Amino acid sequence: MRFSVYKSTLVIALLGFVSFPSHAQKHVADTASIEQRISGLLAQMTLEEKVGQLTQYTGSQLTGPASIRKTTLLNSIREGTAGSVLNVKGVKDTREVQTVAMASRLKIPLLFGLDVIHGYKTVFPIPLAEAASWDLDAIRQAAHLAAREAAASGVHWTFAPMVDVARDPRWGRVMEGAGEDPYLGSQIARARVLGFQGEKLGGTDAVLACAKHFAAYGAAIAGRDYNAVDLSPQQLWEVYLPPFKAALDAGAATFMNSFNALNGVPATGNRYLQRDILKGKWNYQGFVVSDWGSIAEQVPWGYAKDKADAAQKAITAGSDMDMESDAYHNHLGELVKAGKVDIALVDDAVRRVLRKKFELGLFDDPYKFSNEKREKQVLNDPQSRVAARQMAEKSMVLLKNEKAVLPLSRQLHSVAVIGPLVRAKRDLDGSWSVASDTTLTVSLLEGLTRKVGSKTQLRYAKGCDVTGDSRAGFAQAVETAKNAEVVVLAVGETWNMSGEAKSRSDIHLPGVQEELFQALKATGKPIVVVVLGGRPLIFNAISDQADAILYGWWPGSEGGNALANVLYGDYNPAGKLPMSFPRAVGQIPIAYNQQYNTGRPITKPGDATYKSAYIDGANTPRFAFGHGLSYTTFKYSDLKLSRSQLTAAENVQVQLRLTNTGKVAGEEVVQLYLRDMVASVVRPLQELKDFKKVHLQAGESKAVAFTIDRDKLAFYNQQLEWGAEPGEFKLMIGSASNDIRLESKFELLP
Ligand code: GLC
Repeated sequence: MRFSVYKSTLVIALLGFVSFPSHAQKHVADTASIEQRISGLLAQMTLEEKVGQLTQYTGSQLTGPASIRKTTLLNSIREGTAGSVLNVKGVKDTREVQTVAMASRLKIPLLFGLDVIHGYKTVFPIPLAEAASWDLDAIRQAAHLAAREAAASGVHWTFAPMVDVARDPRWGRVMEGAGEDPYLGSQIARARVLGFQGEKLGGTDAVLACAKHFAAYGAAIAGRDYNAVDLSPQQLWEVYLPPFKAALDAGAATFMNSFNALNGVPATGNRYLQRDILKGKWNYQGFVVSDWGSIAEQVPWGYAKDKADAAQKAITAGSDMDMESDAYHNHLGELVKAGKVDIALVDDAVRRVLRKKFELGLFDDPYKFSNEKREKQVLNDPQSRVAARQMAEKSMVLLKNEKAVLPLSRQLHSVAVIGPLVRAKRDLDGSWSVASDTTLTVSLLEGLTRKVGSKTQLRYAKGCDVTGDSRAGFAQAVETAKNAEVVVLAVGETWNMSGEAKSRSDIHLPGVQEELFQALKATGKPIVVVVLGGRPLIFNAISDQADAILYGWWPGSEGGNALANVLYGDYNPAGKLPMSFPRAVGQIPIAYNQQYNTGRPITKPGDATYKSAYIDGANTPRFAFGHGLSYTTFKYSDLKLSRSQLTAAENVQVQLRLTNTGKVAGEEVVQLYLRDMVASVVRPLQELKDFKKVHLQAGESKAVAFTIDRDKLAFYNQQLEWGAEPGEFKLMIGSASNDIRLESKFELLP
């Protein structure tokens, strides 16, 4: 049985304008009284005050020296014509600004928003790194600790999690998300929303989450930020929307729209996305904030003729709050008075915003998040640093380890620590670390120094810069390597080479870092390469010739300690890649779940004649989705399926045995992939449908079980109807998408 997205969307969309709390708002203690209080307030509000609740400004100048901007903004807040401020943080500053709002006629408290993307004062690994941990509990805990610190500092709302599926590493914002897979991305979206918001809004250790950027921003053409997106409906519904639905189901209090146009319509003016899907079919009761200036950007897009037209298109399409474009502030009131915008749309948007302010408890106590004593205690809680180090350890991916050069031996007398990122601190915090004190970040050199003490001599040389073509430091680096037993080379990107507006047309390791590697390789010393960056990078010489490669991402405040623990085996790495690493930019997009058998598959290795292949390179990635090694080994055995045929109402129980066949304890992420062999729409060669992270002592063995239900077999057909089709399914269980250890098949009966 299938149901059509189109039909059900249309029917429910008409209900979308009726704002009533849905079951998803289960955390609202007494919905009825909040709704009554909102109605009472709405009845008193002037049109200007209503528009004010839909207006958000950046307040970074509010706490600085006198300026026209500061005066104007304070006046707006005092007059009740600004409802939210971003980029004001800290108890002192937020209390000061909130006091101004409390002097307004109706005393409606401000919402303070901030990009708490991967930590507040304590910087956690970037979200893409956290995704590499595949550890949902750890990810949830990291978000909770970030929220706890932010909330203790007067922040009510984080603009996270970014849940954009991203398959193109040229796009710098891959660092903010969970990678290329919708299933992993959906699980992580849920974990992060629950981490930020807790079970119930209103606690002083929780903030409003914000699922962003709605939608399909990660599919920007050519990986160029802010660009257009052209997507089939199937790709939109099967790949890019699921993590948003997961965030909504987890109770995400807010959504943020995106800068891209989707199939010709800018997201901020896109009724299909915001009204038909989000507020209609999904019955979303939170509010949508535009991304920075995106309402006004409909003009340069050529979608609105001026800002007034842009404001009308945006409110009609379901954009509730205007971040920093001034379109609502300057034009929404006049559009209502001219009869061009129905006041009901404005009232619905205001109700959604006020509902969150009530749920946070701000009307009962506008200063509940402004407690200086709590701020001091929370921001200095060592628990956060311990958690940040543990998450960094979990996120690191051992890409290669030949001749067991890792873990490093404590018996080593000398280790050369070389490269432009050996002493880096700011770079380890990565992009979007808005409240951190980077002087407190532990560098790789500091981490190793603490680890080895006086037993081992660490010999440092920079070698080269991250960018630029100076080779002046090579000679000293080579000399340093010659005088050591092992070389640890730390290379990668600077903190501002990935992130927003950081698209790169060439994702090779920047500068002359790979040449430095070659020069060191010529010494014949064992070389361990640590790569620190915000995205998949290309480094083929290192991939081919290094003895070991540890991908550290941007590991945050405790990065150096985490790296040292992994390099010396005090933590056995278990990270798995959440994105495919290409061999060449020309392979992009190369996501594992975008690989189809095609009509001309390569059937014999090396035979690419008239096949779907390149004449100048391989189809396969350098490092595959789900790849990551351990200091131990695992055996997969005894695969059993509860049935080889199933009807629509039945499930398949899958069981296997996992054994740690090495000498040290470790964790393995057991991945379950399916392939629908024949369907009315061709299906990818592999789709991740489940995973389990399993800890095993050396020699220990455990049963691992999965359930395959009908939903895991479903997809959208040509009529965009969701459902599963009878036929054969291939089951693959593995340690990576390209390291399948057990296979089987089953049949779905008509
Ligand atoms: C930026 C980003 C968005 C962020 C917002 C506020 O342009 O696109 O992710 O939350 O503006 O800083």
